[in-house]
Amino acid sequence: MKITVIGTGYVGLVSGTCLAEVGNDVLCVDVDEKKIRVLNEGGIPIYEPGLESMVERNRDAGRLRFSTDAAEGVRHGVIQFIAVGTPPDEDGSADLQYVLAAARNIGRHMEDYRVIVDKSTVPVGTADKVRAAVAEELAARGAGVEYSVVSNPEFLKEGAAVEDFMKPDRIVVGAEDARAIQLMRQLYAPFQRNHERLFLMDVRSAELTKYAANAMLATRISFMNELALLAEKLGADIEHVRQGMGSDPRIGYHFLYAGCGYGGSCFPKDVKALIRTAQDSGSAFSVLKSVEEANDRQKQVLGQKIVARLGENLKGMRIALWGLAFKPNTDDMREAPSRVLVEDLLARGATVSAYDPVAMDEAQRVLGPDPHIAYAANPMSALVGADALAIVTEWKEFRSPDFEEMRRRLNKPLVFDGRNLFDPAVVREAGLEYFPIGRR
Ligand SMILES: NC(=O)c1ccc[n+]([C@@H]2O[C@H](COP(=O)([O-])OP(=O)(O)OC[C@H]3O[C@@H](n4cnc5c(N)ncnc54)[C@H](O)[C@@H]3O)[C@@H](O)[C@H]2O)c1
Repeated sequence: MKITVIGTGYVGLVSGTCLAEVGNDVLCVDVDEKKIRVLNEGGIPIYEPGLESMVERNRDAGRLRFSTDAAEGVRHGVIQFIAVGTPPDEDGSADLQYVLAAARNIGRHMEDYRVIVDKSTVPVGTADKVRAAVAEELAARGAGVEYSVVSNPEFLKEGAAVEDFMKPDRIVVGAEDARAIQLMRQLYAPFQRNHERLFLMDVRSAELTKYAANAMLATRISFMNELALLAEKLGADIEHVRQGMGSDPRIGYHFLYAGCGYGGSCFPKDVKALIRTAQDSGSAFSVLKSVEEANDRQKQVLGQKIVARLGENLKGMRIALWGLAFKPNTDDMREAPSRVLVEDLLARGATVSAYDPVAMDEAQRVLGPDPHIAYAANPMSALVGADALAIVTEWKEFRSPDFEEMRRRLNKPLVFDGRNLFDPAVVREAGLEYFPIGRR
């Protein structure tokens, strides 16, 4: 099948590549010339496990191409995925300008039937806006081309995106006309040979499903974070509580970890957008407001623990950071808790020496050149001369370090663990003072 993917970011590049992998002829389009140049020169603009070799294989086979030519994109695919960004607007709602620009462009250049698929995360009612934008452009040039608009939100997780796309838990398709439904079924057949995973529903329900899933996951995280703070006050251990709770199959163990807050490009903005949608339709959705507030507070917790131990004024002190990305296996720094901590530490006069296995280039880009932030070549060298270590991202390589070596390298033997990676008894045995989240 000929497919165009508009927007070649985390979602667009992974979707386009996986669709090419099963034999489709895919053209990925983006307005970002640098990104397209990198891809055309054989590189890859993001870190995502398994993606680089898959891009290479399909690019070499001629099934995966990249272009900045928007008109060529519309001519190419009978299916037009819109996978552009939907950042939060000033009022928290999703900013649809990129989605609607892509839709208008399709209307401007479309000559034959097209299925326009909203893959970006977009509020309920967006498919209607996309349909109207295309209709306007067609009317402006007096063209009468048929088209369908489908909602097909994406559930992939950064860090496991290729695996998630190739073996999805579910494929949500909101479509209301037979021709589009048949094409969507055909498109996704290779990804569900084992059993049916496609949930066909009306467009509005599909749009809401994506927000519902992310809001639920964010709620679990904020619930556990609030519970962890309470456990700390009560002298209980959140790790024991988590295991005791999670063993109930109605609760389950997934997404039940206390930590230093959720980040990334999705949860924060999708929670905000759903709160906004609820407000606009006269509902309070107060649970979700609390989820957001709890997360904003939680991102401050590591900084507060450091201040409680070392004092308000950190001038002349150096704090080591393990992990910068918002979660492991990605270089994505959007809304990462590390950014809040770094800002807090620098404002208090400290310097930072950070290590992350893949996100240091991206961190330098978003944090800008700053003489107070040094980037270390490995976790242990980040500790040299540091007055404390703060662990922000749970990369696998941090899980079993040499605690004796850590103590030798640190100026002061302080470890603030925002991800509860270690057994407190073992860390303390090695002579380190250990400050996890919600633990005795
Ligand atoms: N990142 C994730 O893990 C994830 C998961 C599920 C859903 N989503 C949703 O998918 C959408 C895309 O997210 P992302 O993380 O891939 O964003 P991204 O910022 O990585 O990529 C978006 C791309 O769209 C391009 N773009 C913007 N306007 C364009 C236009 N008119 N024509 C062509 N290209 C254009 C940008 O240059 C950028 O490269 C968002 O709505 C997001 O909420 C993201």
